[in-house]
Amino acid sequence: MEKLKNIAVFASGNGSNFQAIAEASIKGILKAELKLLVCDSPRAFVLSRAKKFKVQTFLINARDYPNKEDFEDEIIRNLKAEKIDLIVLAGFMRILSPYFIRQYENRIINIHPALLPSFKGAHAIKDAFDYGVKLTGVTVHFVDEKMDHGPIILQEALRVRDKDSLESLEEKIHKLEHKIYSQAINLFLSGRLRIRGRRVHKIIL
Ligand code: GAR
Repeated sequence: MEKLKNIAVFASGNGSNFQAIAEASIKGILKAELKLLVCDSPRAFVLSRAKKFKVQTFLINARDYPNKEDFEDEIIRNLKAEKIDLIVLAGFMRILSPYFIRQYENRIINIHPALLPSFKGAHAIKDAFDYGVKLTGVTVHFVDEKMDHGPIILQEALRVRDKDSLESLEEKIHKLEHKIYSQAINLFLSGRLRIRGRRVHKIIL
């Protein structure tokens, strides 16, 4: 049997996407081994989720390091030790430096709760809701040196209904995230993605 590829999830907060990925991995829907959680916040709920799913955790506090490069080097050491093939950002609320990104070029993906390039940033669901959009959605993209910017792997839209509240929209967005993140990870790991400038093509093997 072919060896499963290793993934690391980076998260800073609640971790519902982490949990969806862990569940998909257990069910065999995700063709990857969830080797490591990297978390930068000791109070993050995602830490309890990792414990429950028995996923090894690397908790790191940026304040313990004199500069960003030392902080990121420590993360990279842990990723190398676990032979990580793909880094999956799931609510990791920290910008990775170009130095870090170059080490894992085109091997870092992110999920964003809006249809990029609209509503970048940390409050996308609320920003889209407050703007009054009728359509919003979820984007999974490669990470490059700009925030919420790299080539798009998958995007799925959903309608904002008149009866939606911010809470009901958040719920729908998260549900959609949990579905499409595993799909995007599988596409990457199957070797079917080719980046051509800003476009990501899915090739047939
Ligand atoms: C998710 O909605 C993710 O799209 C968002 O953080 C949330 C984390 O939720 N990321 C961004 O806004 C990145 N710009 P979770 O901790 O429950 O997975």
